[in-house]
Amino acid sequence: MSKMIFDENLHVGNRLIDREHAILIEYINTLQDLVDSNSSRHLVGQVLEGLIQYTKTHFYVEEELMHAFRYPDYVKHIQAHEKFKQTMQQLSSQYKQGEADITNDLMNFLKDWLVNHIQKIDRKLADFLKGKQLS
Ligand SMILES: [Fe+2]
Ligand SMILES: [Fe+2]
Repeated sequence: MSKMIFDENLHVGNRLIDREHAILIEYINTLQDLVDSNSSRHLVGQVLEGLIQYTKTHFYVEEELMHAFRYPDYVKHIQAHEKFKQTMQQLSSQYKQGEADITNDLMNFLKDWLVNHIQKIDRKLADFLKGKQLS
């Protein structure tokens, strides 16, 4: 399956946020590689766990930025993060119990969610943060 490419379509123009998005995309591409090469459930599970943990870290960083700079549109943004975290948590526990697989549909869902979230929601935050600095 096709890999994600971190190009200008996904850049939001905030160095910290862009750097973290690049790492999220690396996780997703690594997961895709493992699925494509039929790697062991254990290894796939480890990378899935890494992706989930890093996603939580990244969401926390964005939420701290929203808080620090009093971002007006934070409710919608945080709700989107919460919903995705719940979905990923559910997937993780189902995967651990052998009740779910990492299918191509699921990989597409992850990729689409990230692209959509970056382009529509994170970009608005990055635009708001332009010119602002932590004092
Ligand atoms: Fe976000
Ligand atoms: Fe983000």
